[in-house]
Amino acid sequence: MFVPLYYASVDFCLRKHYRSSVKLRGKTVVITGGNTGIGREAILDLAGRGAKIIMACRDVEKGKKAVEYVCKQVSEANIIVKELDLSSFASIRSFAEDLLAAEPYIHYLINNAAVGACPKWKTVDGFEMQFGVNYLGHFLLTNLLLERIKASAPARIVNLGSVAHIFGKIHFKDIHYERRYYSWQAYCDSKLAIALITRELAKRLHGTGVTTYCVDPGACHTEIFRHLAKSRSIDYILNKCRGISYKSAKHGAESIVYCMTEPSIASESGYYYNYYTKVKAASRARKDEIAKRLWDLSETLISSAQ
Ligand SMILES: NC(=O)c1ccc[n+]([C@@H]2O[C@H](COP(=O)([O-])OP(=O)(O)OC[C@H]3O[C@@H](n4cnc5c(N)ncnc54)[C@H](OP(=O)(O)O)[C@@H]3O)[C@@H](O)[C@H]2O)c1
Repeated sequence: MFVPLYYASVDFCLRKHYRSSVKLRGKTVVITGGNTGIGREAILDLAGRGAKIIMACRDVEKGKKAVEYVCKQVSEANIIVKELDLSSFASIRSFAEDLLAAEPYIHYLINNAAVGACPKWKTVDGFEMQFGVNYLGHFLLTNLLLERIKASAPARIVNLGSVAHIFGKIHFKDIHYERRYYSWQAYCDSKLAIALITRELAKRLHGTGVTTYCVDPGACHTEIFRHLAKSRSIDYILNKCRGISYKSAKHGAESIVYCMTEPSIASESGYYYNYYTKVKAASRARKDEIAKRLWDLSETLISSAQ
């Protein structure tokens, strides 16, 4: 009870904006799911700083529309749209192969894309959709790009977390949710997995000049819970309420910019941030043995899906 209240109050108190004058000319950023929401606003900000941005999205047409949106505000924006469907290992491999052939450097990887509270859908490779896209897809992508990121150091990997992680659980004995499935629970689980793996990755990257961050942007008015809609009228009311009480996507995107550019956290790695404050993740997200077990399981799941 106290833990959610703690995060909610940090989120509420931190409605101040993060400002940074850091320029990113000569830097390459890869961001998943940047065609809408927080990702699109982060791209707008990063384009203004002069970064080269690879927007990895599953619908290239939506991606192009997002580029138009950014270019209206930053005429010199340097954005390349590439197709990436995180619900398919084949698509992730093909995206990574293409990217590695084209880009000599990756200075920032932003694992932003997510599905929120969807029905019991499965990925192409047979995993529950939220575990598969939000966590496992990003795990594979990060690993495929890791050598290039290391070679581009100093570099940062930013994983989008959520306060939802505090209710999460890693179902080692039921990783496919065959026993029971609650859409919300699976979202929480995927965000716990992300927090754990950010920590494990930091350990593995120690001394390489690559640092990792798990950041909760706070409650933002985006499309993340589009699958929760029950009826048009309920959806309309909920949307209005969110519009009033939640932060804008632009405001939430500042949390990504913070983890990418803030000089004072350059040597921090593996930690959890609420907007732009380092906070303690829930104790279940700080269990090193669980993080290591999850890493090993993820490798096994991916290799056995081939
Ligand atoms: N909004 C919040 O209140 C909140 C709070 C805490 C954390 N977060 C986190 O912030 C991040 C951004 O979320 P958002 O709020 O901006 O949500 P959003 O507006 O729904 O954006 C999610 C993005 O993920 C993409 N995506 C979904 N499935 C994909 C797949 N299989 N392959 C590739 N891309 C896929 C979506 O693409 P399509 O448009 O094609 O579906 C979209 O671009 C997420 O990690 C979310 O969990 C959000």
